[in-house]
Amino acid sequence: AAESPFAVPLKVPTPLRPTRFAGHDFYRLTTREADVTVLPGTRTRVRSFNGVLNPLIVAERGRPVVIEQVNSLNVPFAMHLHGGHVPERSDGHPKNEVKPGERRLFRYPNEQRASTLWIHDHSHHSHAENIYRGLAATYLLTDEFEENLPLPKGQYDVTLQMRDAKFAANGTLEWDVHDFEGRNTILVNGSPRPYFEVAARKYRLRLVNTANERPFLLQLGDGEEFTHIATDGGLLPAPVPTRMLQLWPGERHEIVVDFGRYGVGRKLVLNNTFPYDGETTEVMRFDVVRTAGDPSSVPGTLRAAPDLGTSTVEREFTLSFNPRTGEHLINNEPFDINRVDIRPRLDTTETWRIVNADTQFGIPHSLHPHLDHFRVLDRNGKPPAAGEAGLKDTLTVMAGEAARIQLRFTDYAGRFMYHCHLLGHLQMGMMGQMEISR
Ligand code: C2O
Ligand code: CU
Repeated sequence: AAESPFAVPLKVPTPLRPTRFAGHDFYRLTTREADVTVLPGTRTRVRSFNGVLNPLIVAERGRPVVIEQVNSLNVPFAMHLHGGHVPERSDGHPKNEVKPGERRLFRYPNEQRASTLWIHDHSHHSHAENIYRGLAATYLLTDEFEENLPLPKGQYDVTLQMRDAKFAANGTLEWDVHDFEGRNTILVNGSPRPYFEVAARKYRLRLVNTANERPFLLQLGDGEEFTHIATDGGLLPAPVPTRMLQLWPGERHEIVVDFGRYGVGRKLVLNNTFPYDGETTEVMRFDVVRTAGDPSSVPGTLRAAPDLGTSTVEREFTLSFNPRTGEHLINNEPFDINRVDIRPRLDTTETWRIVNADTQFGIPHSLHPHLDHFRVLDRNGKPPAAGEAGLKDTLTVMAGEAARIQLRFTDYAGRFMYHCHLLGHLQMGMMGQMEISR
């Protein structure tokens, strides 16, 4: 359906209110269908948490969150905190799917660095469609270290959840796991190409890509610089001035944009410079509507990445597409829930080489290991760019390229997944299982 750009305001989510107990915050999230307004003038049936499209949870480091998930959908649902360092039973493994009509408790310890995480479905066959139909929530983990930095805070710290979608004229969401190029409506926080009224000062923008397949190559309309401050695992060691940022599915990047350099009245489009053929580049628009004081600043150093130790194990993961079967493979095998692919030991450090062998079709792939964040050692033998110098949990590798990452398995033994975060590929088999033991 055609929608006119910049016709609706950005929805800035207010955090869900937990029930506060002495030792944890408690939420009940009911996954259910809801009719909401996405395109002006129509209602769209979505899959929601508590009737809300894309809610926000704010958690504090050191204070666990317990979520009771009640599944009122007619499909299974396995809740996964993407980027969360959580025990196996709370990790949303497909074998722990919550069936329609059932409920389950998830416990997130929040013993990890402040970062922008997100919650999404991980059920065996319906995750891509569940996420597409709306089941994605942002989960901000804060900590004292970050709070003590002079970065923009409060109303000047805003999450932007980006994705694409395909609508019929009557507002119905259309989904086909293979037809992602037809998804040409860009949604930010659940609204099509919204405008956001900002003050002429610095903002911290937390960008989350919840799309099934679409990357965003983001650039401000005037091509001006902004500051990259954080990625999947939280703050970078140092801020990185840049004019262009790649945001792949599953990834988070945080930037500080100084609207103080523009006068009131200025309207600035955020563009995706990598649209599919014939599509718009417009993602949203920032409208500078007022002046405001700005005590915030971006410190010259942010947060050193931790030392993950010395690798004692090396593994290689080759990602490829089999045009004959339509399957996406890791080391030539599709996912099998009854097969354990690798057996890492707890408290050891490994180096993984990720090879994208899809030279025939030029398909990008990513790798997202659950449980622990990693550091990027190199890409095609070259040191990672400054924007990849922090902790990551999802890394995209282009066709014919290879990257090496280093990761350390900590705290929780058990069975966890690693997979490509292009959800059509995941659905078509691009996932493996690791059994982490003491
Ligand atoms: Cu967002 Cu298993 O991933
Ligand atoms: Cu892939």
